[in-house]
Amino acid sequence: MNKDANVIIDKVGRDLYILRYNDTDTKYFEALWEIPEGVTYNAYLLIEDGTAILFDTWKKGLDSEFVNALNSIIDIRELKYIVIHHTEPDHSGIIKTLYEKNPQITILGSSMANKLIRSFYGINPRFKAVSDGEVLTIGDYKLTFIHIPWLHWPDTIATYISPINTLITCDVFGAYSIPKSVIIDDIPEDYIVSMRKYFTNIIGFYRDNVIKNLDKVLSITNNKIEVIAPSHGAVLRGNAVGRAIDVYREFALKIPRDSKIVIVYSSMYGFIDSIMNYITQVLNNWGFRISVYRFTDKERSNIGDLIGDVNNAFGIVLGISTYDTEPFPLMDYIIELLIRKLRGGKPILIITDYGWGDVVPKHVKTRLEKAGFTVIDTVSINGQPTEREFGRILGVLQNLKNFK
Ligand SMILES: Cc1cc2nc3c(=O)[nH]c(=O)nc-3n(C[C@H](O)[C@H](O)[C@H](O)COP(=O)(O)O)c2cc1C
Ligand SMILES: [Fe+2]
Ligand SMILES: [Fe+2]
Repeated sequence: MNKDANVIIDKVGRDLYILRYNDTDTKYFEALWEIPEGVTYNAYLLIEDGTAILFDTWKKGLDSEFVNALNSIIDIRELKYIVIHHTEPDHSGIIKTLYEKNPQITILGSSMANKLIRSFYGINPRFKAVSDGEVLTIGDYKLTFIHIPWLHWPDTIATYISPINTLITCDVFGAYSIPKSVIIDDIPEDYIVSMRKYFTNIIGFYRDNVIKNLDKVLSITNNKIEVIAPSHGAVLRGNAVGRAIDVYREFALKIPRDSKIVIVYSSMYGFIDSIMNYITQVLNNWGFRISVYRFTDKERSNIGDLIGDVNNAFGIVLGISTYDTEPFPLMDYIIELLIRKLRGGKPILIITDYGWGDVVPKHVKTRLEKAGFTVIDTVSINGQPTEREFGRILGVLQNLKNFK
């Protein structure tokens, strides 16, 4: 396959280029998250008065494609600086090749990035650690480096370029998917879903740092940002800028949007399946929007989608089979992801089902409560539920419905 066909080179400002790679090969982002929708890696290149400054690169392994793309705009020997906003190899992956082609390059980044590029790539390039708020003037452009640590690595920085009021944010404001347009002026609903999936999967664990860093960036830039240029997905401009900032707050704070309830369950032989069909019907009748994620002998839902969907849901229903005296392994894994990526703050109803030893509910309840979730109740069923047990389930669903 000609991978160069996946390359997009475009302008996002008079002197600012985007070099975008549409990755449709990666099945599991970070070897973990299912992404049939694909992902892009966006690098940016500013050329002013004969000085070329590159902001990030692409994923490790795309060296020849990146070099070809860069060569189509400049001679690599003209490249003076590379800003590394974050050293994860989906963005820093080409620096070794670039350094070998032009050892005069100076890399700019946080002091942590300096350590990481040496340990990841075994190179010893010129490096200038930029301090928080440090300004670099290149011709008419003023580049302000802003430290936004732990979004989602310790090394993370952003660059604000004035007078074009463009904020290069690396992973922050990024999204999965391969948007048709390089730049969008409004954010369609399905793109918000892609942004949220990316946010929850990748940045969710560090969500407490989002608001703090967002406020810092807005204050340093005097709320004047006109363009947000992230490293994944579309460049945001016009109405999309304010909307992205608003939805990021909603993501970080897990604010319930519409009345969505996410149902997640395992069912080996269909017992929990029948309970969840009943629950879905009841919640539907009450006017909730329902998403169902199943782990059965026929279906294995997309866990990355699930974690994204749950972030702004009203509540969660978990259905967990007992397996070798423990929660069903995939549910155990999902509970772990909910704890790490959501970090509590949602009501959860737990339904468990067992054959000969009712051991799961207590264990799961304690674990979720310790992580900051509100466990509405646990209902434990032995095989097929009786009419009475269906009545009990209806009662606990009322409690979930009335949760404030
Ligand atoms: C591979 C396997 C392991 C199981 N391990 C346990 C167990 O350790 N303790 C228990 O009480 N039941 C165990 N069960 C029984 C199931 O938890 C029980 O049948 C339950 O109703 C399954 O619901 P489901 O078909 O919706 O998954 C096991 C079942 C299977 C198939
Ligand atoms: Fe990253
Ligand atoms: Fe990334």
